Amino acid sequence: MTGIRIDAGVASALAGFTLPEKLGFGLVTAPVMFSAVYDGGWDGGELVPYGPIELLPGARVLHYAELVFEGMKAYRLGHDRPNLFRPRANYQRLARSAARLAMQAPSETLFLDALYAIVRACTPIIPRVTGQSLYLRPFLFGTEPGYHIRPSTTARFMVIANPAEVYSSGPMKVAIERADSRASPGGTGVAKTGGNYAASLRATQVAADRGYTVALWLDAASRRFIQELSGMNLFAVIGDELHTPTLDGSILEGITRDSLITLARSQGLKVVERPMEIDALIAQVQGGECTELFACGTAAIVSPIGVLGEADGREYRPRDVDRVAARLRESLLAIQERRAPDPFGWVHEVPPA
Ligand code: COI
Repeated sequence: MTGIRIDAGVASALAGFTLPEKLGFGLVTAPVMFSAVYDGGWDGGELVPYGPIELLPGARVLHYAELVFEGMKAYRLGHDRPNLFRPRANYQRLARSAARLAMQAPSETLFLDALYAIVRACTPIIPRVTGQSLYLRPFLFGTEPGYHIRPSTTARFMVIANPAEVYSSGPMKVAIERADSRASPGGTGVAKTGGNYAASLRATQVAADRGYTVALWLDAASRRFIQELSGMNLFAVIGDELHTPTLDGSILEGITRDSLITLARSQGLKVVERPMEIDALIAQVQGGECTELFACGTAAIVSPIGVLGEADGREYRPRDVDRVAARLRESLLAIQERRAPDPFGWVHEVPPA
């Protein structure tokens, strides 16, 4: 247990906040935030009203993108005390992302206590509607000013929160990206770091301009193998099996991906993790062996894919949209929202203060 200071302004910030009817994703921000500082060691951290932060313009995060983050959710359906979902898996990934960038991660205790503090404070504003939640964004960044390319000696760990709906609603149109690449072997693709998302922005914009929802990334070396969608992992229903790209060191190790694999196997579905060639997948969609495609992520949960498209206008539509995906989404959400038993030990109730 760490000694988190609760700022005197927190209670009035929360008292003045009303949950709007339309939440969107990331559009509504909780009125409080957590912040801890590293300067040779971590301080205890504080919960303060949400607002601007002070950062020197020379801070390394602003120049060398020294930043890692996580995406998580807190739920409160039918229970007084909120719950998280596999928060230790998020901690472990944050620690791995931080290690990849040679950054000092907070301890697991500080990470969990920060989440508990913000979730406890925000309990009254956690939506109690299925599919909605309090999205949590823990992030860690280098604050030391200077241009020398070496790790920052100071850092800040923060958690902000958003009462939110699902990231993307309805079947997605996915643009196959064959020009830009997101991550390469030995690079930072496996880390949840802002730079990976920055690398995806141009293709995302091009895709959006063509009416697509999201870009699909291929491996940087051969441009043959599927990696992931921006912010989501991909699954394909092929015959009566579920296929997903192998974690190759460049793909984000999605916690939702991992949970779905476990869940699907527990329901008797064969799950195959293998290198997946984009052209072979397209042929399987055209030939009818691949009947369904979907993506998953914390924010997205499980999102159906309606169309796979090339830059030249060719489009491929799997026969089914949101069939297996809908079943898996409901099974996963039911556990996350504590509407169903949790045989895997994933649900993590926030303890009382
Ligand atoms: C998440 O699913 O939490 C992410 O970080 C992905 C982002 C595109 C919202």
